[in-house]
Amino acid sequence: MLQKDLLPWIESVGDLGDDVLEIGPGPGLTTDLLRRRVSHLTAVELDATLAHPLRERLGGTNVDVICTDATRSGLDANRFSAATCFSMLHHMPTPADQDALFTEVSRLLRPGAIFVGTDSIDLDVIRAGHVDDVFVPVGPDTLADRLAAAGFVDTQVDVGDYQFRFVARMPTGDHLAFAVPGAE
Ligand SMILES: C[S@@+](CC[C@H](N)C(=O)[O-])C[C@H]1O[C@@H](n2cnc3c(N)ncnc32)[C@H](O)[C@@H]1O
Repeated sequence: MLQKDLLPWIESVGDLGDDVLEIGPGPGLTTDLLRRRVSHLTAVELDATLAHPLRERLGGTNVDVICTDATRSGLDANRFSAATCFSMLHHMPTPADQDALFTEVSRLLRPGAIFVGTDSIDLDVIRAGHVDDVFVPVGPDTLADRLAAAGFVDTQVDVGDYQFRFVARMPTGDHLAFAVPGAE
């Protein structure tokens, strides 16, 4: 699925650029795919039992693995050419945590950079798979407004049978000129 659907879709929605942030890589299946397509990838993983083996496995490659909470990464503002998050939003404990992540991602991205992701739809069959786990699904119909509140524009959301996928963009100078009354 990652190879055949996710990557072609990502490549169709925009350019990832040279310095990409991956949020919530888990064991690194998505990291392995992304890192072959970009110059540099920074993977931010909260769970030390996943982050440390991933850092060890990818040592000496074009991937930096950072073990921290992505809502307060401490990384430099305006650094990244794109950010990704695959199947991680529903693992955040509250909608406020998800919104804090959107705000942090917007801080980290350059003007015009894209934020792409996938996540689960709220279905009984998926809830059943998270009985002993966090499951706070993001309503796909709410996502554009939530991303706009964090500063994103041009959000597109595609809803499938079990998952939705989205792409949003940081404004460029052109968007800012339209947003600020009197600005040229
Ligand atoms: C289901 S895994 C997805 C792994 C991978 N992206 C994939 O699609 O195969 C979700 C990951 O997000 C991580 N995660 C959850 N909250 C996080 C946070 N605040 N900061 C960084 N990582 C987080 C979890 O620890 C988990 O490894």
